[in-house]
Amino acid sequence: MSRIIVVSNRTPGKGPAAGGLAVALRKTLAEREGFWFGWSGKLVETPSIEARFEDIDGLTVAQIDLNREDHHAYYAGFSNSILWPSFHLRLDLATIEAHWYEGYRRVNSQFARALLPQLKPDDIIWVHDYHLIPLATELRNLDVRNRIGFYLHIPFPTTDALYAIPHHGELMRDLSRYDLVGMQANRDVAAFTEFAEHQTPSTLSGSPLESVDFGRTEVAAFPIGSDPDAFAKLAVSSAANKMLKRMERAMGEQELILGVDRLDYSKGLPQRVEAYEKLLANNARFRRLVHLLQIAPPSRDSIKEYQETSDTLDAMCGRVMGRFAEPDWSPLTYVKRAYGQPSLAGLYRLARVGLVTPLRDGMNLVAHEYVGSQDPEDPGVLVLSRFAGAAEIFDDAILVNPFDTDETAEALRMALDMPLDERKQRWTTLMAAARKHSVDNWSKNYLDRLAPATPRDSSGTRD
Ligand code: F6P
Repeated sequence: MSRIIVVSNRTPGKGPAAGGLAVALRKTLAEREGFWFGWSGKLVETPSIEARFEDIDGLTVAQIDLNREDHHAYYAGFSNSILWPSFHLRLDLATIEAHWYEGYRRVNSQFARALLPQLKPDDIIWVHDYHLIPLATELRNLDVRNRIGFYLHIPFPTTDALYAIPHHGELMRDLSRYDLVGMQANRDVAAFTEFAEHQTPSTLSGSPLESVDFGRTEVAAFPIGSDPDAFAKLAVSSAANKMLKRMERAMGEQELILGVDRLDYSKGLPQRVEAYEKLLANNARFRRLVHLLQIAPPSRDSIKEYQETSDTLDAMCGRVMGRFAEPDWSPLTYVKRAYGQPSLAGLYRLARVGLVTPLRDGMNLVAHEYVGSQDPEDPGVLVLSRFAGAAEIFDDAILVNPFDTDETAEALRMALDMPLDERKQRWTTLMAAARKHSVDNWSKNYLDRLAPATPRDSSGTRD
């Protein structure tokens, strides 16, 4: 069987905090003698082009260092100040600096040059996410004819938002150098198709004057998931139970509403707090009987828009506290820190409501983890944004428009009032969907689809 080479910006770290993707791919990589390639996390003046190999808890990881200026242009610049906001339809939050694009391509070229000596002709290369869109082009330019797949973990933008991205024509041409482009949701494939069908040379910036031919690239939805049964086990483990008991004592009679998100403007956190404020304002009976716990570990905090989101959230949580707290009751707890999976599983299990309301999200795995962690005899209710990829598979959640905070407040009320029978009924369907879309099935489906692709020559043409 061919080896699998996984490539992503960050590689999995040591220890039990590893995410679902790492856990799922670890098995595949071990069986198929592959490795995971990415940035080491180190910034140096003149990085070596040679990758360092390391065994991390049985997973073979190959890493390279990056130059500080290049990394800034590639990561904080082009990837997270242009691609991220544009793909999430937040053009108002994009900052464009023309020189970032060169750094973005330089890092992709460095990844390709470091990978090249490690490749065998039959290897299957699986590239992950928006940081590495040009990687196939850089590899094909080095005459790599292997099967190369790309998976986009974030949403694909609408055509208008795509046009706002400098060099979008080149980026789309880069996508056409992959054999398989996987996306999270059908809506992403539809947005891609809309672009592919309506592009004309005049709409493509930064690209030679001809439209992009996607004829050799398959594009399809492969919704990612978690391992819901592993979460079910974890949620009753002693580590999870420790957190659950601790919280149960703190909560007393109150029902817990839980949000867990990176502190990112795409997650809709200010709107979420506003919806909670409206719940308390419109339904005095819930005061003292509910508590919102929002866990939001800081993310990408060198970027101004992330700092501003953090400031906004500080102010809003303060406002809700000032408005509703009493000397012996506080309506919410806001924690800017990350927790390990066992503690989260305990919190998910205790929470009567899992509040997952991003303004736009590729999938949202918190929704999957929340479902997996529930007690089948007394499950909680998932309140889910219709703009998360997860909404396509979790139609038994209460789906909300997160921009409409009245609607979200009403969904919270419904969730808190929902009778046990209906909770069980909805959860049974949600759990079946989480199992069907487990991360194991996801990687298997994706790799099964990529495996039969035939080799290409360096121009990208199939043999
Ligand atoms: O899901 C999108 C993503 O950018 C992943 O690629 C990444 O692992 C995660 O969000 C966290 O982002 P960052 O690596 O920028 O902290």
